[in-house]
Amino acid sequence: MRRMPKLDPTSDEFREAGHKLIDWIGDYLDGVDRYDVLSRVQPGDIAKKFAAEPSQTGRPYDAILADVESKVMPGMTHWNHPAFFAYFAITGSQAGILAELLTAALNANGMIWRTSPSLTELETLTLRWLREALGLPGDLFGIINDTASINSFLALAAAREYAAPEIRTRGFAAAPPLRVYCSEHAHSSIEKGALALGFGIDGVVKIAGDDTFAMSVEALEEAIARDRAAGKVPCAISATVGTTSSAAVDPVKRIAEIAKRENVWLHVDAAYAGPATICPEFRWLWDGIDAADSIVINPHKWLFTPIDCSVLYTRKPDVLRETFSLVPEYLKTTDSAEVNFMDYGLQLGHRFRALKLWYLFEHYGVTRMQAVIRQHVADAGRLAEELQKRDDVELIAPQSLSVVVFRKIVRDPNGAIDETASERASIEALERMNASGRLFVSHTRLRNRYGIRVAIGNGATEWEHVARVLEYL
Ligand SMILES: Cc1ncc(COP(=O)(O)O)c(C=O)c1O
Repeated sequence: MRRMPKLDPTSDEFREAGHKLIDWIGDYLDGVDRYDVLSRVQPGDIAKKFAAEPSQTGRPYDAILADVESKVMPGMTHWNHPAFFAYFAITGSQAGILAELLTAALNANGMIWRTSPSLTELETLTLRWLREALGLPGDLFGIINDTASINSFLALAAAREYAAPEIRTRGFAAAPPLRVYCSEHAHSSIEKGALALGFGIDGVVKIAGDDTFAMSVEALEEAIARDRAAGKVPCAISATVGTTSSAAVDPVKRIAEIAKRENVWLHVDAAYAGPATICPEFRWLWDGIDAADSIVINPHKWLFTPIDCSVLYTRKPDVLRETFSLVPEYLKTTDSAEVNFMDYGLQLGHRFRALKLWYLFEHYGVTRMQAVIRQHVADAGRLAEELQKRDDVELIAPQSLSVVVFRKIVRDPNGAIDETASERASIEALERMNASGRLFVSHTRLRNRYGIRVAIGNGATEWEHVARVLEYL
């Protein structure tokens, strides 16, 4: 059959190239540890390898794959590498890769139910499976979007709608000065989202962290009281379960009490740590979650899903819909479907990302995923223990889940820590590790101390890879 006589006259080339590509991917995944984790190229090195103009007559797939090897691969930092410990890892699991291929092949846009009933219904189903696998309450509506940043933006928009619905008609000028609260250790996406929504920099109140880098509830209460007295209106509190720098966990339960008393939207950013609750022993992370109005969890961080896949759950889907629903004539339908995803966010287009979650649950099952997460946390604990045995190293945050943050310490002749020399030694150690190509770690700064941050989260990581931290230290 000649489906697209001008573009793809037959599927012969596609089949041949597709089989080769799957083999290539299989070899790449099997051998990814051979590559340097962090690409060594300089800015511009990659761009100059490519022709200035695209091909006029087209090229065979084989030639393109050869270019991938010779031109693209040198500029890849390998997020699939088992010794990728920077930021938060992403796992290109085989089930996830196959599902991503199928997503492209089916090429569905689930903007409304009828534009692909299977998309809407499988997304609803897999998000119920996920909710149950993570031990979350039963009254949550879920939607998948690309990133946690977008999902937190959507949640803050709903919070704004909840606090000041008049903004929808009359704009911000009609509203009282609204305030969003998050800890000083919250991810920058909270502040970015608030900025984009018009809260302004002054509208985001950063609450001090306590000794464990969790939000101080006392400081939160004081800030809200101070703002109320000054005529501001608290709109949302964003708590983090697993902060980016040190995986600290804000006391959601106590924060929820304040949110309830103040009638403020409670958002929980569990982008990184949420997936850990697939193991019952980590469900304590959800203490107080029943009161959350919205929760963000990233399967593309710690649930073996290739980027992108971020889940937004909310107990107030009606508010989210009121915030975003705006149906032009050409998208009106008479279907009886309850959910049209276009009503719950900014984007009209909606990818079939649920296929990835469905493939993961079906192929690996909950038990295999639990085993990997348990191993990650155990390896982080072992790394923290080994580091603490050394007298030239100190942890600068309590080890939490799969994150360990430490620094090298250098002492002066009186035995006191020399801050400047310690920072220099820590930076040198980090650079040595990353230059080795055998592992990739990133850094953070906590209480003005520079720390080397190791976050374990790749599905391929074993202790032998984590041990490289000690080897190259
Ligand atoms: C706690 C937390 N929230 C949100 C984000 C942003 O995630 P995304 O890249 O999906 O927007 C991160 C990224 O590391 C994070 O650590």
